[in-house]
Amino acid sequence: MPYFSIAGGIPLRGSCRVHGAKNAVLPILAAAVLTRRPVRLLDVPDLSDVRNMSEILRMLGCHITRDGDALCIDGSDAACCELPEDLSKELRSSIFLLGPVLGRFRRAVVTYPGGCEIGNRPIDLHLKGLSALRAHILEEGGRIHCDGHALVGATIHLDYPSVGATENIMMAATAAEGETVICNAAREPEIVDLQGFLCAAGFDVQGAGTSTVVIRGGCRPREVTFRIMPDRIVTGTLLCAAAITGGSVTVENACPAHLSATLAKLTEAGCELTLYDRAIHLNAPPRPAAIPRLETLPHPGFPTDMQSQMCALASVADGTSVVVENVFENRFKHVPELIRMGADILTRDRTAVIRGVPRLTGAAVTARDLRGGASLVLAGLCAEGTTTVHRIGHIDRGYDHLERMLRPLGARITRHEETHGKEEPETGPTE
Ligand code: EPZ
Repeated sequence: MPYFSIAGGIPLRGSCRVHGAKNAVLPILAAAVLTRRPVRLLDVPDLSDVRNMSEILRMLGCHITRDGDALCIDGSDAACCELPEDLSKELRSSIFLLGPVLGRFRRAVVTYPGGCEIGNRPIDLHLKGLSALRAHILEEGGRIHCDGHALVGATIHLDYPSVGATENIMMAATAAEGETVICNAAREPEIVDLQGFLCAAGFDVQGAGTSTVVIRGGCRPREVTFRIMPDRIVTGTLLCAAAITGGSVTVENACPAHLSATLAKLTEAGCELTLYDRAIHLNAPPRPAAIPRLETLPHPGFPTDMQSQMCALASVADGTSVVVENVFENRFKHVPELIRMGADILTRDRTAVIRGVPRLTGAAVTARDLRGGASLVLAGLCAEGTTTVHRIGHIDRGYDHLERMLRPLGARITRHEETHGKEEPETGPTE
């Protein structure tokens, strides 16, 4: 399996460009099933999750072609409403297809996604929302059979502002009779992007980005060309790379408003930020300051997808930081690997107490999940000596060749295709 080798200790300098957002393009690819008109998505990153989602759409009968950084989808021939079990198990985000397949074909058969590296990942809120639209749902043998021949709009109150549940209900509600109101909806920027795509395709969705989203059934179908929003988590990861190496970096194609909580914590860590319309510049101190308290929360709170990267930064900070992971129940799998590099971290339940050390030491470490893997790359960038990061297939799910973004900034990071006798990567659904 491929791995990265990283020679640490070099302050990153220069500018890089961030690609389209994984967590926007995945639901939007699912939403493309809702329309028979041609769809052209711009700035689509080349990620394994995107390739897997595209393969599932092809198996439903969609024609998908890549044209540079654009992805063209023609769903006019789509006719299958049963998602393939194997691919659906590999890509848990395939559950985002439940709403649009139900909306398009009035039937859907999907696989129960199950848990993954970071948590159990239940879908009770997805199913409760679809039932409120009068979908009939039967769970049998790990498969979920849905009938949606008489979908009717409803007011749905989410017990928790789940991103995926909000998106699934939005997409299914486009095919429901009348109006649907989602209360306590998730407010992530990726949901605003999904609304933008749906409206461009001729659907009637309003309120995304607030806690109340309103969908009116029906559609005036239109051919659509849509640019995917920049990836705010890749942006935050690149800014952390500058911060952890004491560097000075500009991230182009970044949207500061999408990651204000992350920028606030980087400022607390002593970084100087300059914000532009579509770029962010970060000037780092020689050593970051500790972050007394960081708690992950639904947007606009601090994003859970940036938690592990901030743990890496805090591990070399001047002082003690406390990180609380409120969103997922098992998202500290990067901690034992950081400790192997000399970090001083104590975890108890959902809390990590991180006592900053002056330097980390390069070591052979293993990515256990997507963002945890990114945090190990960050640690390697500042560690003394060489770090090898294994099972980087996890990282490739959410970063389009992370090494190609970092090398122009001076990072000495190399992707090696062969393994160093490391055991095969864990299988199991991706998060
Ligand atoms: C999306 O996952 C993202 N994935 C995640 O990004 C992100 O961490 C998460 O939102 C939170 O922002 C994609 O968009 C593809 P949730 P999702 O439903 O939709 C509980 C990454 O690294 N919950 O908001 O699965 C759940 O257990 C990935 O890019 C229920 O209890 O997140 C969790 O504790 C990781 N019942 C919490 O809500 C449900 O029916 C947040 O889950 C659904 C969720």
